[in-house]
Amino acid sequence: MMSATMDPSTQTLTEQAHAKINLYLHVTGKRPDGYHLLDSLVVFAGAGDSLQYEPGPEPLHLELTGRFGKTLGADAAGPDNLVMKAAAALRAVSGSSAHVQGGRLVLAKELPVASGIGGGSADAAAALRLLARAWQVDVPVGTLMHMAEKLGADVPVCVASQAARMEGIGEHLSPAPCLPECGMVLVNCGQAVSTPDVFRKRDGAFRERAALPTHWKTAQAMAAALTELDNCLEAPACQVCPPVKTVLATLAEQPDCLLARMSGSGATCFALFPSAESARNVAHKLAGEQASWWVWGGALA
Ligand code: C5P
Repeated sequence: MMSATMDPSTQTLTEQAHAKINLYLHVTGKRPDGYHLLDSLVVFAGAGDSLQYEPGPEPLHLELTGRFGKTLGADAAGPDNLVMKAAAALRAVSGSSAHVQGGRLVLAKELPVASGIGGGSADAAAALRLLARAWQVDVPVGTLMHMAEKLGADVPVCVASQAARMEGIGEHLSPAPCLPECGMVLVNCGQAVSTPDVFRKRDGAFRERAALPTHWKTAQAMAAALTELDNCLEAPACQVCPPVKTVLATLAEQPDCLLARMSGSGATCFALFPSAESARNVAHKLAGEQASWWVWGGALA
């Protein structure tokens, strides 16, 4: 599990909330409560939000900054924000020896919201890691994962923030194949997509659980294997948000692109490249050509 960094002069702790990418996503069934059962290979990109905590005597409060934080209304920093819900959950399980305090949380939102790369889930997971350390709350891993699951289906995988296979609705995690070095480009067209809308537009068919190897030696081998799998939510997301098609086509035609696909329920799409450098070059070019797109390129986290 990644750990927070601390600035000793201010006692400020900082934690990164990395973007979560679904390399493939199969819908394998549906629970009686309507939630869909998934089989997905999740990785984390270097891109992410960052969360800072400065302990203080005032009641705990959240401020939003960053490219996307500034555009959200004041309500977005209220008690319904997943970061504040994570703090409340942690406070509820903290014992008498814990150093639970107030203070200031600052969330720099650099990831587009409602975009299929788990920004809110990664923020909640970062809050759990950060505040557990700051408040010295010793939570058993099982309890932490249960708290994460209650915050959202994607939160458990974001707690460890490491590549994993995700099943159930997100609560069953197992090791991912050993991944080769590879580069990734992320593109979001700027349109928020509603996850329930995308699930509703699905054709209703269920997929098999994928057969995965223990490792992939090269980015090319990984991309070739992933080509045999897909994201079942890509076609319905293209109906809900047609610019996803343009983004996918643009990514696929970039030099050295090994695979172009949508992540989660969209609208963010990713492309795999042989190296972080080739991904950064493509991202730089695309950002220049498409001013309204959010574009990132680099290595996996
Ligand atoms: O977990 P999250 O809050 O992102 O889910 C939003 C909605 O997406 C759920 O209320 C549900 O309608 C749908 N969903 C689903 N199956 C999942 C995850 C989400 O049906 N595994």
